[in-house]
Amino acid sequence: MGHSDQGAQTPIPDRGWLLALPKAEVHVHLEGCLAPELVSSAARRAGAELPGDLEQGVHDLDSLLRTLDISCALIDTEAELIDIAYGFSRHEADSGVRYADVIVNPAHWPAWRGRLDSFVAALDAGFTAAETDGFTPVGICPSIGRDQSASEAVELVEWIVADQSERLVALSIDGNEEAAGRSSPRFADAFGRAAAAGFHRCVHAGESSGPEGVWDAIDLLGAERIDHGIRCVDDPALVAELARRGIALDVCPTSNVRLGVVSSLHDHPVEQLRAAGVRVSINTDDPFLLGTDIPAEMASVATTFSWGTDVVAEMARTSIDASFASAEVKRALQNELSAFLESPS
Ligand code: ADE
Ligand code: ZN
Repeated sequence: MGHSDQGAQTPIPDRGWLLALPKAEVHVHLEGCLAPELVSSAARRAGAELPGDLEQGVHDLDSLLRTLDISCALIDTEAELIDIAYGFSRHEADSGVRYADVIVNPAHWPAWRGRLDSFVAALDAGFTAAETDGFTPVGICPSIGRDQSASEAVELVEWIVADQSERLVALSIDGNEEAAGRSSPRFADAFGRAAAAGFHRCVHAGESSGPEGVWDAIDLLGAERIDHGIRCVDDPALVAELARRGIALDVCPTSNVRLGVVSSLHDHPVEQLRAAGVRVSINTDDPFLLGTDIPAEMASVATTFSWGTDVVAEMARTSIDASFASAEVKRALQNELSAFLESPS
């Protein structure tokens, strides 16, 4: 256990406790989880020139999205996709994550355009092999980019619905809301179709957009979870609505600081939102590019806001409850979490 803090009811948790804490991750992009060695060897094979250290180039949302485009464009074999999926599941297991919803946006992977079946089949093979080896089970949330068209979005949903794979759990939307302008009306039809076919919905909003983007996510896209969502803090009525409806925010503290969404961790609204009764989980967004993992994210916010183990455990509970795992898996994980919290440390 870590040092205790005067303001905390329970001790501030240390990395060992955070690693062992049973939890889910619900906001992480596969595109941000490519091992640097895999990207360099793909670049060598393609004779492509990489712009130095990819991680160094990330300073705002646009540069992040460009970096994801550059690295994912190099991936054109099924073996690489299997490796990426397997490596992701192992990374999550190494962070003590017991279940993960992973966002995958096909628009970042041009080599697989028109071959979505093969793309997802290779990822599925990697996740299945990893799970067989005892690593973290994963659900895929196929994602629309904010700059795509309504018909591209509907096409993706039609593919998801036709695929019938249990691996696909939700429709997601990501990308740059600010650059796209108000885009949720364009995607309402796609999200409505996904909901009608029984798929969950998670929506990036309130990162590069303000509260109006979060309102649209709820009202037009039927979002069950908001990825980031932190700009809701600028609208007290929205904060109250999120709390009342129990819509969880999938918060990524390091990403928000690194991309300039907040000026420092200290200025991050996560504590204010938590105190207002909004359900919050802690996530990594693009961990390989941002050089982070869930225990590191939890440790940073716990230290910054003097959160004890009780507060962090509540966020782990939210991560499991808000995940798109099956009811059975969720129940088992909640029981694991309870047993962990009751066991003497
Ligand atoms: N894709 C990967 N990371 C993202 C983020 N933080 N916001 C929007 N789209 C993303
Ligand atoms: Zn994200």
